[in-house]
Amino acid sequence: MLVLGIETTCDETAAAVVRRRDDGSGEIASNVVLSQAAHAAYGGVVPEIAARAHVEVLDLVVAKAMVEAELNFQQLDGIAAAAGPGLIGGVIVGLTTAKAIALVTEKPLIAVNHLEAHALTARLTHNTAFPYCLFLASGGHTQIVAVIGVGEYVLIGTTRDDALGEAFDKTAKVLGLPYPGGPEVEIEAARGDPSRFALPRPMVDRPEPDFSLSGLKTALRLEAERIAPLTEQDVADLCAAFQAAVIEIVTDRLRVGLRVFRERFGRPTALVIAGGVAANQEMRSGIARMAASLGTPLVAPPASLCTDNGAIIAWAGAERLARGLTDTLDASPRPRWPLQAPPPAPPIAPPEAQ
Ligand code: KG4
Ligand code: ZN
Repeated sequence: MLVLGIETTCDETAAAVVRRRDDGSGEIASNVVLSQAAHAAYGGVVPEIAARAHVEVLDLVVAKAMVEAELNFQQLDGIAAAAGPGLIGGVIVGLTTAKAIALVTEKPLIAVNHLEAHALTARLTHNTAFPYCLFLASGGHTQIVAVIGVGEYVLIGTTRDDALGEAFDKTAKVLGLPYPGGPEVEIEAARGDPSRFALPRPMVDRPEPDFSLSGLKTALRLEAERIAPLTEQDVADLCAAFQAAVIEIVTDRLRVGLRVFRERFGRPTALVIAGGVAANQEMRSGIARMAASLGTPLVAPPASLCTDNGAIIAWAGAERLARGLTDTLDASPRPRWPLQAPPPAPPIAPPEAQ
């Protein structure tokens, strides 16, 4: 089964083709990602600029993905696009493009939840069996999720304030590092001393596997203001202290999350990490040590498949298509779309006749 996937929910314009075999394994035929550079000057993603940039390049990105896969549209079995959650202008561009291709080729459309795409990546890269425990850490989300099956997700823990990637990005901004901040903080941290600044570890040792990051972010800002102006070494040491605190928080929260998973669903086949923050190598090592101590296998897709791309959208599309889960051409773009679909709203009773 061959599926085209389109991703435009944030500032990556991406398209890819993946192949799903009958045994459930997968293979990437092409994966084209164009990261929009225009946002760096603003220190964050500007939705209007992002939407316009998607319009300008998406056709070319899709064409390149098809050429690299050495396929024409008629050879595809389905057309998938991320239909949310994300910046609505970009989502409309990607979903509308997918609808147009589906309409012309008469192939099924799959409107994919971007979070579900991150959640299912491990099945593309490692053929991971259900049920597994997912740690999803991106710019907008920080969640521990029980992945029971395709379309079956149970939220175990989440953040009460900032997302992890957001905390990395805000830390970078306070320290004068460019956007996106996560990779910059990681580079700086590598040459810093994590023990010079004592930063808090909010929520650590709490019995519920939730996160809170705003206190850590504020503590870092106050330290930076206290010692300003910052030298290069100060920046590196602050990044190292921040990253060390985050990794300690994450490993503690995941240890609790895995305990809750076992109590509710039995042993997971693996702990899977996904989302842009999972590209952080130190974070991966910390999580790997924690998982090993519990005897839980860790599945970490390559960093290039943790950040946003079309292959994970195409794969989620293929997983849904294989189960007959397709969408109609009136599928709506959704700026907000929780992974755990809310129960259907109860029918509204007709007003009582007076
Ligand atoms: O999943 P993703 O590509 O896009 C969203 O769906 O949000 O995640 C982007 C986030 C950004 O906040 C970025 O700073 C963070 O992931 N990130 C990292 C690293 N690479 C990307 N955070 C920490 N360390 C990294 N190496
Ligand atoms: Zn993402």
